[in-house]
Amino acid sequence: MNNKKEKSILVMVTYGLIICFVMLFTITGCGHKEEDDNNKNDEVIINSNNKSAVIYFSATGTTKKIAQKIAEKLGSDIIEIIPKEKYKSEDLNYNSDCRANREQNDSNSRPEIENTFDINEYDTIFLGYPIWWGTIPKIILTLLDNYDFSNKTIIPFCTSGSTGISGSVNDLRNYNSNLVIKDGKRFSSSDSDETIVNFINENIKITNNSSERVDSVKAIIDDQEFMINLENNETVKSLINMLPQELNMNELNGNEKYVYLDNKLPTSPYNPKRINAGDVMLYGNNCLVIFYKSFDTSYSYTKIGHIDNLPDLGSGTISVKINKNL
Ligand SMILES: Cc1cc2nc3c(=O)[nH]c(=O)nc-3n(C[C@H](O)[C@H](O)[C@H](O)COP(=O)(O)O)c2cc1C
Repeated sequence: MNNKKEKSILVMVTYGLIICFVMLFTITGCGHKEEDDNNKNDEVIINSNNKSAVIYFSATGTTKKIAQKIAEKLGSDIIEIIPKEKYKSEDLNYNSDCRANREQNDSNSRPEIENTFDINEYDTIFLGYPIWWGTIPKIILTLLDNYDFSNKTIIPFCTSGSTGISGSVNDLRNYNSNLVIKDGKRFSSSDSDETIVNFINENIKITNNSSERVDSVKAIIDDQEFMINLENNETVKSLINMLPQELNMNELNGNEKYVYLDNKLPTSPYNPKRINAGDVMLYGNNCLVIFYKSFDTSYSYTKIGHIDNLPDLGSGTISVKINKNL
């Protein structure tokens, strides 16, 4: 009897712990959601004809690193704003009467830009800069004076010691109220690739609204490049709109790797009877599965595509980056 009691107490404690863990997880998730909901700007829809670029200024390289990552993940062009007179370290010593401080205190200051570039072809500009005294460095105003950003969407991003991006975005909007400028994001140098991919995904949606079909995408599995030959269905079309994706896929049953995607996809499940190594499937509406062994199955899936000559993916978690063939 006592043994039974002990057992049931143990079960209750275990359940209690599981519930606490789930609640903690949910609360953390909600916090993230709230942050997203605060970004009241409309989503930018980038269709297949829309072109984006990353344009940035960086005096000491921090913003440059983030800019390069955004451009890499986005597969976009990248343009550095190079000052005619480079900033030396003494120009940036903000505890002194340095050049940067003098520029920031002078409303007429417009430091010259050495290089010129053509921005006509771009519809969306990711604009990066360091925060100087709570706002944009004056050279960003030179950029806005020299180039026509009307009919473009500007998505700002910055790096800073700690100051957030909102003050600088307000100043950009006040400088030219005709421009479409999103809320943007502050990054720190240690921010992960996942944070950058989330920032891109939160701000743009790549839709392929041309009649041209995307019939393959690139998958980098643990640094090895493969091609996923795609099915022609609604699931695939929606998945393409969610790219790029960086996923850690878990091992299951010695024959598949799986991950739950953030978004649900449309489905048209069927029982394929047999799974072939290299099949890429959707289980339910958001579980992406890559099979690396062939076997008979009684489960139903929506087929996404197939990777030819996929090797055995081993027993552990794999990292998978999926992007369009840019
Ligand atoms: C003149 C000057 C003013 C700065 N003002 C701020 C500030 O107000 N708030 C802050 O958090 N960081 C401030 N910083 C720190 C930079 O924003 C930070 O180091 C940034 O990541 C540098 O980017 P970069 O390497 O791309 O130039 C300032 C730096 C300089 C040189």
